[in-house]
Amino acid sequence: MIIGVPDETVPNQRRVALTPTVAGELIEAGHEVIVASGAGERADWNDADYEAVGCEICPNRDDVFKRAAVVLQVQALGATDDEKVEPYDEGQTVVGLLGPYEVSDEQLATLADRNVSAFSLELMPRISRAQSMDALSSQASLGGYQACLLAAEELPEMLPMEMTAAGTIKPAEVLVIGAGVAGLKAISTAERLGASTRGHDVRLEVKQEVESLGADFVELDLETEGSGDEEGYAVEMGEEFYAEQRRQMRRVVPESDVVITTAAIPGAPAPEIVTADMIEEMDAGSVVVDLAAETGGNCEPTVAGETVEHAGVTVHGPTDLASRVSHTASEQYANNLRNFLENLLDDEGTLVIDLEDEIIDSTLLTHDGTIRNPHLDDSEPADNDDTDESKEGENGAT
Ligand code: NAI
Repeated sequence: MIIGVPDETVPNQRRVALTPTVAGELIEAGHEVIVASGAGERADWNDADYEAVGCEICPNRDDVFKRAAVVLQVQALGATDDEKVEPYDEGQTVVGLLGPYEVSDEQLATLADRNVSAFSLELMPRISRAQSMDALSSQASLGGYQACLLAAEELPEMLPMEMTAAGTIKPAEVLVIGAGVAGLKAISTAERLGASTRGHDVRLEVKQEVESLGADFVELDLETEGSGDEEGYAVEMGEEFYAEQRRQMRRVVPESDVVITTAAIPGAPAPEIVTADMIEEMDAGSVVVDLAAETGGNCEPTVAGETVEHAGVTVHGPTDLASRVSHTASEQYANNLRNFLENLLDDEGTLVIDLEDEIIDSTLLTHDGTIRNPHLDDSEPADNDDTDESKEGENGAT
């Protein structure tokens, strides 16, 4: 089977879908791997690194789409701002972060016309068998780490407490809102750097995890019943709930030197938790990093992809944190892809799209001329009787 890796098209994207190590493993398993020239450069792998493990370099990007049976990408379709569809070939299989909530009807129709089997990794079910393929988690974890470092670098204070001959240095107060994959990594990173760390989440089951990292859990007096679905995702709560949450947050946010927010709701705008006036009460020089910026942000002043100053507080709205550690992020992502591919291949190494497999069924957006994306407005997965009831809750992009 020919596996193709084009270079990425999103301007800030530094990751590559396959690393030379994973490409080499696929070649050893009997496949051919073709890579667009320069695809790995921004993650620090050059063409020679790929050639050294037996990949063929394609000077012309379009050749990857013409020749590959399976195309591996980091971001494409709805995960980019581009309405254009890549030159996917008839019957091709595509795997990547495809933005299942943002992909347009027209894009999906084009894929279906070309009989493309498009797998969107954002839709990975949260079952233990899928953990090694879960790209959202592997990338969110890096985002949480990076968010903490970004804040630490910017803050005009040290994070750890220290007793020195010149006096005692107070630890910085770090507050992390949303203790999922990214939030827990931000908490553990802040703890390792010696900050005084607190974490908050509407899902009270994460209290123990937060505390096991050495941080304090901020428990608000909120009616949190029904705030999470069976897969562990938060669900959208009413405006009354968020208003009460903001009212109680008012006493916590101003005490913090660093606030890192990660509270996302898959397929819905991020809830506003930190208002402009809370930030105005923080000390000048404090830092906010809003990891939910891409879906609207958890903080009122956040601007996606930008850094703004509000009343002397720096508010970051980064959308590319995992990509900033492009080498590690690509290694993790390529491992996720390899594990996903292994699940798609039979013992002879032939691609088999078995719709009975929950992982395949959940992630497949288009197949056999049919649009299956359950995240389109009013959409029923067309012509598809295989829908597994256990996956009705949305799972997806941050
Ligand atoms: P996410 O990125 O969708 O959300 C981040 C966090 O924000 C979540 O913990 C959520 O509860 C929290 N949040 C949402 N609204 C909030 C609000 N108004 N106030 C405070 N917090 C709010 O979620 P993520 O990080 O992808 O994962 C959520 C859970 O799923 C985690 O417990 C994780 O362990 C679990 N998980 C399970 C997997 C598996 O079994 N295969 C794979 C990945 C994650």
